[in-house]
Amino acid sequence: MADHADRSPPAHPGGREPVISLRNVSKNFGAVSALTDIELDVHPGEVVALVGDNGAGKSTLVKVLAGVHQPTSGTIRFDGREVALSSPSAALDLGIATVFQDLALCENLDVVANIYLGREASPWKLDEVAMEVRAWTLLNELAARIPSVREPVASLSGGQRQTVAIARSLLLEPKLIMLDEPTAALGVAQTAEVLNLIERVRDRGLGVIIISHNMEDVRAVADRIVVLRLGRNNGVFTPDDSPTDLIAAITGATENAVSRRAGRRAATLEGSA
Ligand SMILES: Nc1ncnc2c1ncn2[C@@H]1O[C@H](COP(=O)(O)OP(=O)(O)OP(=O)(O)O)[C@@H](O)[C@H]1O
Ligand SMILES: [Mg+2]
Repeated sequence: MADHADRSPPAHPGGREPVISLRNVSKNFGAVSALTDIELDVHPGEVVALVGDNGAGKSTLVKVLAGVHQPTSGTIRFDGREVALSSPSAALDLGIATVFQDLALCENLDVVANIYLGREASPWKLDEVAMEVRAWTLLNELAARIPSVREPVASLSGGQRQTVAIARSLLLEPKLIMLDEPTAALGVAQTAEVLNLIERVRDRGLGVIIISHNMEDVRAVADRIVVLRLGRNNGVFTPDDSPTDLIAAITGATENAVSRRAGRRAATLEGSA
């Protein structure tokens, strides 16, 4: 057995090829540069947390990878090949699944129906029994705590809904899953449940990208922490790195101190010239 040797999180787990790899990816909205020269690698069986202040470009980056936005420039390689993620269905077909923050579940439908929502073309669609079995299997594999798959989603807790949304995204057997703020609305116990779930997804060998503002959650689950600031890369950290350094990278505190010092030095030199 490989004994999960490549799961201890040095910067590049096991030397495996990244499932997704971005180089110099930029995205402009008119005059606004939302992303500039972004680099990002995610390996199979790795959780990468994407962190940064409001407006840092996290959601834009996820939308580029989900095929919602087209990058202005740069290259994206998926599974070793350069790809164009020209639409959400193109991204999904390649094996990139996204759980958006609003989850997009139907309250009045039960768990099975929600897992199969919008998958009418799937071969299981017409077979209720097969759908239910497959839904249960998926949820069991995730060790999810759902009382019944025939329960309407309206009666589930926030953590259980997140679980259903994640199970739904796994139906098409993606290689990369992206979760936008999966614990933002959850209490302590439900957060722990969702973090466990994310670890299970990683253990299936998927690459995982998680956006979160909660540094505790990020430290608990991420193998690497990628900081964005003002649409640019601003450092890569591991959960063992100093929280102060991480926060400084997010807020730009270090950069400000450095540039202030540089500015003072320049002023002094000018003054003495
Ligand atoms: N469709 C759009 N049109 C114009 N500007 C946009 C669009 N989407 C995002 N932006 C701009 O791009 C920048 C990055 O926004 P983005 O939503 O990606 O940030 P974020 O890191 O997800 O922030 P938050 O933590 O608040 O969700 C912001 O300046 C935002 O105003
Ligand atoms: Mg956002």
